[in-house]
Parts: sequence; structure tokens; C-alpha cells
Amino acid sequence: MRDSTLFAGLTDIVGNRHLLTDPESLQRFGLDRTDFWTPKPCAAVLPASVDEVRDIVRLANRHRLAIVPSGGRTGLSGGAVAANGELVLSLQRMDSILEVDTVGRSLRCGAGVVTGHVHQAARENGFYFPVDFASSGSSQIGGNVATNAGGIRVIRYGMMRHWVQGLKVVTGAGDVLDLNRGLIKNNTGLDFRQLFIGSEGILGVICEVTLGLAEPPPPGQVMVFGLPDYDALMALLGEARRQLTLSAFEFFSDNALGHVLARFDLKAPFSQRYPCYGLLEFDRNDDAALSLFRYLQEQGIRADAVISHSDEQVASLWALRENITESLSARQPWKQDIAVPIPVVPDFIRDVGGLIESEYSPLEAVWFGHVGDGNLHLNILKPATWDMEDFVAQCRRLMMSVLEKVQSCGGSISAEHGVGLLKKPFLQYSRESAEVELMRRVKAAFDPAGIMNPGKVFD
Ligand code: MLT
Ligand code: ZN
Repeated sequence: MRDSTLFAGLTDIVGNRHLLTDPESLQRFGLDRTDFWTPKPCAAVLPASVDEVRDIVRLANRHRLAIVPSGGRTGLSGGAVAANGELVLSLQRMDSILEVDTVGRSLRCGAGVVTGHVHQAARENGFYFPVDFASSGSSQIGGNVATNAGGIRVIRYGMMRHWVQGLKVVTGAGDVLDLNRGLIKNNTGLDFRQLFIGSEGILGVICEVTLGLAEPPPPGQVMVFGLPDYDALMALLGEARRQLTLSAFEFFSDNALGHVLARFDLKAPFSQRYPCYGLLEFDRNDDAALSLFRYLQEQGIRADAVISHSDEQVASLWALRENITESLSARQPWKQDIAVPIPVVPDFIRDVGGLIESEYSPLEAVWFGHVGDGNLHLNILKPATWDMEDFVAQCRRLMMSVLEKVQSCGGSISAEHGVGLLKKPFLQYSRESAEVELMRRVKAAFDPAGIMNPGKVFD
């Protein structure tokens, strides 16, 4: 049990109702979407303002209490897990859209605003916020910034970093910083805003965010291709980029489609099955879509394609891709979100797929992701008869081989989900030890007592 003066201090800051210590809350606030750790926070605290966050961080410094910042907890790398008696600091009450600047085209909001509400506020004001993913109904903007979230439209619009104009943060030392002040141009030395984007909560707490807004895109169309192999998928990517204005280029393997169709009441895109599928979203252009299909035929690629002609068809084709995560979740998959250079994608999938089949059977590999960005999601499924411990041990061994391949082709161990706890043991496959040492020193500058999300990203 923690010092009662700590809890009295927290109650003074947020009020009794917003300091949660009941078992159900501790379970809920102590976990993200990963299943490999047992949640054990000492409490969850729910501040309503930047000043309250500052006071909590200062109090935690005095008590040397570790803080885990918490958004929608939709993360897949254990970055928001509290398994060591930490205090979970949830931003969920800081959920207001604070300002929409329709001339400057920006939106300022609390870090606890759900991503989908930003989409809606942008739309209501005649704009578009393009960072989007399957969990946008529950993920929060602060978490998106802290993980530099990517998603389905990176090929056209970039990742979260591209859209962050300003951040109000409380550092681990308890200082309030207004980073970049929401400006478009500001050349005044080091830009600490960029350090906080993708920092996974190890430097401080992101409290408010100013986002740039985009022009709404013209009406879109979606096409799904059934393809014989990954070489055909990459040929399709090259030609699609020449002929269409793409906003997404996604892929999934046939067993990924099988899991979605088994779990959800959705129609298969074709009467026959293909080894892999490409899903393209682009600005409406029926002629180019047709000539893209002809191009594949001219190349001797036996493919099939279906194109949307209504918003309902757009949604049902996207559902085949967006429901993959949900269709696998009950199997507690071991998830990887690697990035590899675009030209090596087919060989990489073939090599790793072959390795899993030959040495790790009966583990099942499910492939999908944002192949237009070189971002591959590899989910490994546990055979029903295996216990979790054996499964995790096998996955760790497999990952060593996979990540050696990632390293040797110049890829990254995490394209978008972040390092958290899950990928911490593998950081050296993507970052030099000198870089990790510099990260440690940067953390110490913002968080001298080391209370911010300790144990995440690196030790
Ligand atoms: C996705 O692209 O669907 C997400 O990154 C989630 C996942 O990898 O499961
Ligand atoms: Zn993804």
C-alpha cells in the first residue's frame, strides 16, 4: 500500500471521484490491447486540466512514483501497460475540441479527444483530418501523437507527425511547455515537439494538441484485387501509383480473409480464393481503374478485381481489411508491425513464410498491412492446444530470425505500433547502441527522476 499522503495529495488535486483504486478500474486502466502482462497499477488518476496534470507530475516526483500516461489504450506494444505499481494518468476527461481555426486550418483539442471526434469536427467545419485506422472510434489523439500513429492513408497523407502543429506538454520534471505554439513556421532552435511525437510517454504527458487540417479529398473509390502472388501485388502498386491518385494501398493474405469471413457476416470479394489481395482507395477514376486491370492482363498476371460504385460498397470492401485485427483478437496473436524497403517485400514474405512453415509448424502466420508504405503486419496465431508460455517462447525465438532479416534488409522492427514493452528486447535490430544511449540522456533531461513510463522502449 502506498503512502496515504500520496493518495490524499492526488485527491486534493482531482477530487475523490477521479482517483480510482477499485479492482475493475485497475484492471481496465492497467492494460492496452496486449495480453502478455498482468495489470497492477497502484491507482488511476483522471485530471481535467493541464494544471492538474502538472500538479500530479510534481507530486509523483516528490514520491518517486512512476506514471503511465494513458489514452484510449488501443496500443499493441504494451506502451500503456502498468504492471509494476505505477500510477496510470488517464487523459480521458480532457476530451474537448478547444478551437477550430477555419482560416489557419487547424484544430486544437485536449489529448483525450477520441480520434473519430476529430474526424467529425474537421468534417463539420468543411475540412478533413486524414490520420485514420480501425481503432479510431476509441483511440485518443494524445496516444496517437505519443505513438506517431500511422494507419491506412499514410501513402498519401503521412503519419501523425506530419499533422502536429503544436503540443502542450507537462515534462517529467513537472514543467509546462507550449511546444511550437501551434505555428506553421517557427525557426527558433531545437523543435522539442518532434521529440514528444512517438516518445511513448517516456518524456512527459501530452495534454493538448494542435493539428493541421486538410482539404476534403474528392469522392473516392475502392478496388480489391485477387492476385496470384506478392510479385503481382508489387507490380500492381507500381502501376497504380502511375495511373491513380491513391489514398491507400493495403494487402492481406488469403488466411487473413478466411478469418474475417469466419468471424463476420461479410461477402467474399470473388467466387474463387487467391493467395493474396490488394485493396486500393483512390480519387474516383473509372477509366484508370479499368486500364489498371488491363495492365495486369498484359503482364500475364491472372487477377480478379471488384470496384465500388456506392458508399456502401466502399464500406463493405474496407470491412474485409479493417476487421482483420478484430477477427484474430480472440486467438491472442503475437503481433509484429515491421517495415521493409518496398522492393524486398515479396522475397521477405516468401522467406519468412517459408521459415515458419518449415521450422515453426503448427504456428499460423497471418499477413496484412499497409504494403504501399512497406509496413507489414505479421500476426502469429497460437495453436489451440499450446499453452501461452510455450507460444511466447516460440514467438520470441522466431522473432529473432525475422528481425535479423529486417535488420539485414535495412527495415525497422516497428513501422507504426511503437516499441513499448513488446519490442524492447529487439530494439538493437533497428537502433545503434549509441542512439539508445542518446535516448537515455534525452529522457533524463526531460524526466530527471525517471518517473515517466519507466521500462518502456529501453531500460
Ligand atoms: C492495422 O493495420 O490493422 C493495425 O495496425 C492493427 C493491427 O496490426 O492489428
Ligand atoms: Zn497497421
